[in-house]
Amino acid sequence: MSDRLLNKIAVITGGASGLGLATAARFVEEGASVVVTDKDEDRLNGAFGNISNIKPIDRRYQDVTDELGWNNLIEYVLTEYGGLDILVNNAGIVIRGTAEDTTISDWRKTQEVNLDAVFMGTRAAIGAMKPSGGSIVNISSIEGLVGEATAAAYNASKGGVRIFTKSAALHCASQNYRIRVNSIHPGFIRTPMIDNALATMPSDEVEALLLRMENEIPLGAMGDPEDIANGCLYLASDESKYVTGSELVIDGGYTCR
Ligand SMILES: NC(=O)c1ccc[n+]([C@@H]2O[C@H](COP(=O)([O-])OP(=O)(O)OC[C@H]3O[C@@H](n4cnc5c(N)ncnc54)[C@H](O)[C@@H]3O)[C@@H](O)[C@H]2O)c1
Repeated sequence: MSDRLLNKIAVITGGASGLGLATAARFVEEGASVVVTDKDEDRLNGAFGNISNIKPIDRRYQDVTDELGWNNLIEYVLTEYGGLDILVNNAGIVIRGTAEDTTISDWRKTQEVNLDAVFMGTRAAIGAMKPSGGSIVNISSIEGLVGEATAAAYNASKGGVRIFTKSAALHCASQNYRIRVNSIHPGFIRTPMIDNALATMPSDEVEALLLRMENEIPLGAMGDPEDIANGCLYLASDESKYVTGSELVIDGGYTCR
């Protein structure tokens, strides 16, 4: 522990699993108080074992698509902790489908969780951070930078997060709020999201995908959740005080070529 987030209050959405869970653990190591939210209460409780709802890890039920829920969460954090310094908009889903076979319902669900919620979270956090500044980290994806035939809705949602982040960053800078807004673009990271996606695919496709990863990721393997957690840590901390509207790609070099 080196106290890179000492005395900071952070909220991380979708923190019961994968990247959010790793980021929560990393933030606590660096001295932050972290409010972890998720809509999967069983997973949320399981993820943090017997730790009760006390600092530095606090668990709250939240469906990020619920607008009123955002108001309630921010009110809770301001009342209990006296401020908000960091928001990581991490919750997300993948529904696979091409531009031809994606249903409108799958399209809308994907935008609702991956994009609309990032907008609502960013808007709510700006309101809370205005008095003393802060850092908002939006988890996009390499799929927000490059296309994939079977990820039409996901591509659109993550591309939306990327460019919305820049708009919010410019707005905050223009108002002298001292709030920085950046996006992170993970490549293939082994989490339950990837495992679940693999489980829905025919085994020959899984084998082909794993082979493609081995061959096409320049660093030769999938990343670890901690790789993304460390990127979040940098953008959340004051070490990135001159960084806003940027897109941090953490993908083992996958999108270099
Ligand atoms: N794993 C990867 O390779 C990868 C790559 C690029 C981007 N990402 C992005 O990183 C983020 C985290 O992914 P992960 O791999 O850790 O996934 P994950 O499935 O392990 O975790 C996502 C969490 O979000 C929660 N969640 C889903 N919908 C929610 C909602 N409406 N309200 C609140 N919580 C909700 C889930 O319950 C789950 O705990 C996502 O935004 C994902 O798109 C992941």
